[in-house]
Amino acid sequence: MKNNTSQTKTSSFGTSGRINHDSSKFYNSKLYKELDIKLDNSNIVNPFPPKYLNKIIKGSCQKMKEIPDNSLHLMITSPPYNVSKEYDEDLSLDEYLMLLKDSFTETFRTLVNGGRACINIANLGRKPYIPLSDYISRMMIDIGYLMRGEIIWNKASSASPSTAWGSWMSAANPTLRDVHEYILIFSKGTYKRAKTEEKEDTISKEEFMEWTKSIWTMKAESAKKIGHPAPFPQELPRRLIKMFSFTNDIILDPFMGSGTTGVCALGEKRNFVGYEINEDYIKIASERIKSKETEMRGLFSGADLSI
Ligand SMILES: C[S@@+](CC[C@H](N)C(=O)[O-])C[C@H]1O[C@@H](n2cnc3c(N)ncnc32)[C@H](O)[C@@H]1O
Repeated sequence: MKNNTSQTKTSSFGTSGRINHDSSKFYNSKLYKELDIKLDNSNIVNPFPPKYLNKIIKGSCQKMKEIPDNSLHLMITSPPYNVSKEYDEDLSLDEYLMLLKDSFTETFRTLVNGGRACINIANLGRKPYIPLSDYISRMMIDIGYLMRGEIIWNKASSASPSTAWGSWMSAANPTLRDVHEYILIFSKGTYKRAKTEEKEDTISKEEFMEWTKSIWTMKAESAKKIGHPAPFPQELPRRLIKMFSFTNDIILDPFMGSGTTGVCALGEKRNFVGYEINEDYIKIASERIKSKETEMRGLFSGADLSI
């Protein structure tokens, strides 16, 4: 890239500001060369079956046979945590990671090139701490995703950290208490999405400036209010949808739970499809989505949302 007087470039001391930044030196370093990243810019998009548009499919997301290859634009999910919540099976770490790998490999198949995948996850335990976010990032890279970054969700005062302090006010064995979760962000094939005529951006300048920062402070959602043990707050998928998708895009949540991703997709003039294995949660999700539908009036119709 041509370097002119108003352009910054990577230097040994870093740069304080970035204007039309020339980072070729950094990306030509051994660190990146050895990663040998090959982008796939092919533009295959298959039509999404109308039958499944804005529906929750009852069944496991380990095989998403209803969804064609290259037909979705964004995946947002919070997978089961395997921590003995109401819906959790008692899986070993390997079995659990295999469930996620199946689901995210299927997601990779169904995303268009440039499509994004966002995973909300918390790390587990203390003896030892299980860094699920690290395992999942590695797994996604092995599947073939390009990692875009990670967001720390600061749950601040809405977090209910354990009061197991370990050794109270002593270095003998103090215990860290997490007040954060992660949102891991990936792309399939290439980083950029082409913007076509029927697709619009809906993010404001203020939102873009704030949400491109890697720490988001958002209140957790009340499980009791929603009737599901682990709903994420609407603010979480809403921000991801506005940042990483255009209007009329199709958004997948393979672990749909109480349907938060669907509610937000419709609210932001996008479409959704979800998978869920638990009928009670499908009912809760359908109710929430129907009342959003009523609010949005006429975006789609259909008495029974599950299929
Ligand atoms: C953490 S919750 C998702 C909560 C959701 N984000 C919300 O806001 O309500 C994970 C969900 O995955 C569902 N689930 C577990 N295994 C599944 C599978 N193999 N396929 C689809 N859904 C599954 C569980 O029943 C649970 O509702």
